[in-house]
Amino acid sequence: MPKLVCHESLFPLVPRNGRLDTEDGQHSYPLINGIPVCLYPAQPVGDDARWQSYYDWFSPFYDASERVLGRVLTGVDIVVARSEVAAAIPACLNQAVLEVSPGPAIYQSAIAQRVGSAGHITALDISLGMLRQCQHRTQQQIPHPRLVCGNAAHLPFPTHSFDGLFHFGGVNLFSDPSRALSEFSRVVKPGGWVIYGDEQFSTHWRSRNDWRAKILRRLNPGYDRTPPDTPSSLECLSEREVFAGLGYLRICRVRKAVHD
Ligand SMILES: C[S@@+](CC[C@H](N)C(=O)[O-])C[C@H]1O[C@@H](n2cnc3c(N)ncnc32)[C@H](O)[C@@H]1O
Repeated sequence: MPKLVCHESLFPLVPRNGRLDTEDGQHSYPLINGIPVCLYPAQPVGDDARWQSYYDWFSPFYDASERVLGRVLTGVDIVVARSEVAAAIPACLNQAVLEVSPGPAIYQSAIAQRVGSAGHITALDISLGMLRQCQHRTQQQIPHPRLVCGNAAHLPFPTHSFDGLFHFGGVNLFSDPSRALSEFSRVVKPGGWVIYGDEQFSTHWRSRNDWRAKILRRLNPGYDRTPPDTPSSLECLSEREVFAGLGYLRICRVRKAVHD
């Protein structure tokens, strides 16, 4: 299992008096209900703060709202859309995989099935509320994910720790999406895989002006944004539309030499 480190110094964290500290005692992080809180900054700012408190509040209703409201508003069969995304995750037996922003663990069982009982899963989210939902949903899961509260733009893991990284649904929310993508490639081994995506209108949806497109635009301005450029440390092998044209998924490999 990849170690947890202080994202400022990259020194390993060791348990001490119910907290996680660097050996030199310069940095210390709390454990809340057994979940390490390795946030940087300790109090998120800007969009990170806004979405952290929103998802802490909204986490118990996330699934139901997606099943009912999401279905009505998008007209998309969410179960089918989710399984298409899950099918694209290229995790293999025994791999160590990081999921960034798992929310209530929608893709955890797919990752667990692929890595098998000897694999390792870490799930990092900025919202403790979402991590509690994730904890509840993965109680019986093998392998059990290690949960970490952290910021996608400051990952508390050593460089080249994981075989692969999966992320869906947070790029439009991050305060610093470019930095997050660089962090995705930093923590994955050279040659390893990174898959990330988010909601975004396809060309077809951009030309629509019916009630669905209007409401979706109003609820989530992210639909009309373009995703951040893939950093040079990642080679984008393919990009595809998901969620019937309401999202994208980029399948990337970490380049062997260059790092952003
Ligand atoms: C729209 S939900 C997506 C959840 C899940 N991956 C899915 O596909 O349904 C966005 C998730 O991103 C998390 N998030 C938002 N900003 C974050 C950040 N800066 N770092 C890590 N996670 C973040 C939220 O707490 C939430 O769980």
